[in-house]
Amino acid sequence: MEIFVVPDAEGTGAVAAGILAAVIRSRPDAVLGVATGGSPLPVYVALAGHGLDMSGIRGFALDEYVGLPAGHPESYAEVVRREVTERLHLVPANVFVPDGGAENPDVAARDYDRAIAKAGGIDVQILGIGHNGHLAFNEPGSALDSRTRVELLTERTRQANARYFDIPDDVPERCITQGLGTILEARQLLLVVNGADKADILREALAGPVSPECPASVLQLHPHVTVVADEAAAARLT
Ligand code: F6R
Repeated sequence: MEIFVVPDAEGTGAVAAGILAAVIRSRPDAVLGVATGGSPLPVYVALAGHGLDMSGIRGFALDEYVGLPAGHPESYAEVVRREVTERLHLVPANVFVPDGGAENPDVAARDYDRAIAKAGGIDVQILGIGHNGHLAFNEPGSALDSRTRVELLTERTRQANARYFDIPDDVPERCITQGLGTILEARQLLLVVNGADKADILREALAGPVSPECPASVLQLHPHVTVVADEAAAARLT
């Protein structure tokens, strides 16, 4: 596992974008796994600054809420469109998000795993970590070999994400999330972590026992993990 510690969130964006840019230059049809939330935003901003040809790049989002109306600004389909597809000039048809509005979300989840496999798997999966150790929306208790599926969000995660919604109660209770087993199949995992409020959980994930109680601890099982953290988030590593 490689760990880069930089002074601030902007620095995490620069380092992580540099890693992604190298992959994209060597593989112009690379498959990227894209995270939403606050942590990866500086990465997308910095990557846009590299001015790379992204026309062959494909993207798969980590997760999506179930039950938001189509076009809801906080659906991950919309967030990914704004923050990733448009910012990086990806071809919209090359970017996939689980279908949270599907009539049968369980089927949509299974189809999503198949679509990732059909694309040849994910080359680099960008990740953030939740305060409770969630990875994507795999909440504590998720099986380490879980596949993409429908899950319930914990109250803690709903509260953390309420900052993006006008009405906090509008945060959905269900989601479709890539499974921990799905995430582990990506060829490289790139975890981006910012802020003192993530210091304890980052330590638990990287140095604690590998356990479903801390889903992000599965990172310890993957052969190619790169962690990019700011000093505040990394304060409890060592
Ligand atoms: C987002 C996702 C989540 C976030 C996590 C951290 O697609 O899957 O696991 O990465 O909740 O969110 P931030 O970065 O907002 O602290």
